[in-house]
Amino acid sequence: MATEKAKGVVAPEEKDEDRAFDQTLRPKKLDEYIGQDRVKQNLSIVMDAAKKRKESIEHVLLHGNPGLGKTTLAHIIAHEMGANIRVTSGPAIERAGDLAAILTNLEAGDVLFIDEIHRLNRSIEEILYPAMEEFGLDLVIGKGPAARTIRLDVPRFTLIGATTRVSLLSSPLRDRFGMIYHLNFYEEGDIEKILERSARILKVKTEPEAQKEIAKRARRTPRIANRLLKRVRDFAQVKHNGVITSAIAKEALNHLEVDEFGLDEIDRRILDVIITKFGGGPVGLTTIAAASGEDVATLEEVYEPFLLQIGFLDRTQRGRVATKLAYEHLGHDMPKEKQSSLL
Ligand SMILES: Nc1ncnc2c1ncn2[C@@H]1O[C@H](COP(=O)(O)OP(=O)(O)O)[C@@H](O)[C@H]1O
Ligand SMILES: [Mg+2]
Repeated sequence: MATEKAKGVVAPEEKDEDRAFDQTLRPKKLDEYIGQDRVKQNLSIVMDAAKKRKESIEHVLLHGNPGLGKTTLAHIIAHEMGANIRVTSGPAIERAGDLAAILTNLEAGDVLFIDEIHRLNRSIEEILYPAMEEFGLDLVIGKGPAARTIRLDVPRFTLIGATTRVSLLSSPLRDRFGMIYHLNFYEEGDIEKILERSARILKVKTEPEAQKEIAKRARRTPRIANRLLKRVRDFAQVKHNGVITSAIAKEALNHLEVDEFGLDEIDRRILDVIITKFGGGPVGLTTIAAASGEDVATLEEVYEPFLLQIGFLDRTQRGRVATKLAYEHLGHDMPKEKQSSLL
């Protein structure tokens, strides 16, 4: 209820509280998937053509920040193709045998979804190459000089890989995907549509102005939008009679300490550290992490992309720089010499 801790409410990774909720709200068909129009159009053409030929589609790599709809899209692709989906993840496949078992149990046309595919062990990746390319699985029988390799057939399947860190993928693996899509942060209008849809499914009465208010602070990320909607709904149920007006939405969001740009205390601390401890930058990511008490990977994967996206941070050769917008937002004056150096 209203006393829940604010920390992390706008973190884009999946939390326990999201799981059941994500299931009910997750779109099942392509035309329920809001935004990402370029990706949708492209996929719909590819899928239509494949269906006409009664073939499966090429392997797909989806990359983008957490919460932007990669898992959702993987399930939609399987659903639209009328295929079964087998779900696993990079860290879950520990041994070569694990992957071999998964591959040999697939049926023709199945979708194999590997989440966090950048965390796949390199030696296991090598088993994937012939499976992706030639639908073959090489097994080594015996040991030492007597060892020999036999090749098993794997049914024609579609691999869908998802990753938040495409740069960590080895190039041989990346090259074996026929389609690579990047999911961007959403337009604010699309986030409003997502909220409208979610409110309808959850039967929560929300005024359009309230949806705008929530959308503004959702970091252009569907998962965060849905989570904020849920928090605002709970707040409205406890404190009011349930209908979410824009005043109630504002009150609830302020209570959660999410500001009108969707920044929480961690973002503000990061920016504050750059401005007050390092004269606005440039400063390296590791130094920022140490000074703000955050972990480097989280900073790089989660906080930085959004701060860059909304123009609060710049990335330069020598490190990160706080922009004029960031100074203004945190109520600091930007030194004159800094302002001219940006021109
Ligand atoms: N395009 C979209 N339209 C509507 N809802 C979406 C969309 N993308 C994501 N969502 C919602 O956001 C939640 C998180 O998306 P998910 O696919 O789990 O993100 P990712 O796998 O990229 O971390 C989903 O459960 C779904 O409810
Ligand atoms: Mg996911």
